[in-house]
Amino acid sequence: MLKLKGSLKISGDKSISHRALILAALSLGKTKISNLLESDDVLRTLNILRDLGIKIKKNGEDWVVYGNGTCGFFQPDSALDCGNSGTTARLMIGAVSSNPIKCTFIGDESLQKRPMSRVTDHLKTIGAEVHLTNNDYLPLMITGTQNLLPNKHIIKTASAQIKSSLILSGLNIKGKTTIVETKSTRDHTERLLKFLNLKFKITKYKNGETSIELNGPYEIFSKDLKVASDPSSAAFFIVAALITPNSQIELKNILLNPLRIEFINVLKKMGGKIIVKKTKKMCGEDIGIIKVKHSNLKGITISSSLSPMIIDEYPILAIAATQAKGKTIMKGLGELRHKESDRIVSIVSNLKKLNFNVISKKDDIIIQNKNVKIKNKKIIKTFNDHRIAMSFLILSIIYENKILIDNSDCISISYPKFHDHLDKLLKKY
Ligand code: S3P
Repeated sequence: MLKLKGSLKISGDKSISHRALILAALSLGKTKISNLLESDDVLRTLNILRDLGIKIKKNGEDWVVYGNGTCGFFQPDSALDCGNSGTTARLMIGAVSSNPIKCTFIGDESLQKRPMSRVTDHLKTIGAEVHLTNNDYLPLMITGTQNLLPNKHIIKTASAQIKSSLILSGLNIKGKTTIVETKSTRDHTERLLKFLNLKFKITKYKNGETSIELNGPYEIFSKDLKVASDPSSAAFFIVAALITPNSQIELKNILLNPLRIEFINVLKKMGGKIIVKKTKKMCGEDIGIIKVKHSNLKGITISSSLSPMIIDEYPILAIAATQAKGKTIMKGLGELRHKESDRIVSIVSNLKKLNFNVISKKDDIIIQNKNVKIKNKKIIKTFNDHRIAMSFLILSIIYENKILIDNSDCISISYPKFHDHLDKLLKKY
């Protein structure tokens, strides 16, 4: 039998790693970045910045970026390859749009199916010239200009990628750019810009809207950046410890941004014994320790209003739900259809294959606890989706490794050290 025991430092946060690299490139001067996540997705952003003329070097464990200012990109020689990374594509499209260069963005098979017009429609209204494949997809061509217009953008789909893309574009727009989001999404770009001493205004309204007012063009002066550990990666081990008898773990240096750790409140509501302790501030973010013990979970209803805050955690929450007493209803998951795979399909089809009691109804997933026994080995289809792969490997722990996955290479998209870290925590008893 296996249990999880011990203490671990998780790898750097993916969202902050992308942003740290991009903002360092847009700053003037040299930025040292520590604890950068060296995953496939983040390396896509890093290599695209190099293609745009930014010098980036590794120095021991750290990375050094020689920033060239908010209008400092050079014309690239070839297409910018975003691989599997939606964050790279959407953020970099915004970042290049206010520079006078012509860029072609390409991506892998999965990324070519993910919508880009949610970003480019905004950029077109302010003067960027964009040609998309089938009006919505990569490959796309964008011709940027230093004369983009200041404007007010109202974002209808809750998405930090759209918001961040427009912020990055607005940094080199002369005049007032206003970005309004109707639901709060992760705010790392705003926090990093504040840490870099940028002057801009954020207003939160009673109806839940947030408005961000930029007054560009900006000069950003470089400052060394540290990346906290990724709570979305921690989520796999948190759920593993909750569902595996006799487990008790401690995860250190975790990013405790409230827009990222809502899944912990969900798991606590399900009966999870989790203690969160803030220890310090780092680059404008709260950091701390998370302690987790094996718990008897119960099913709950997860409201759609939480979805922007737990968007990446649904696959692993579904795994927790399979072990919770009663029924778990996860509501309003429409955005999951636009992730690395259609995650409603990937979660439901694989759980059904394992004989769990699960259904999807429009954009909801309902999981009813059932005492499933797995006698023979079963192979899960990951759809090349890193979070699906890791989620089912966690479920495999309590089924004595009878659940296998068809492809574990995709895990390096967000968490190359996943297997090493899991091995460190797993103990025989
Ligand atoms: C991210 C935002 C989210 C999230 C993704 C990372 C970011 O996507 O799912 O993994 O770093 O801004 P959306 O903005 O599409 O919701």
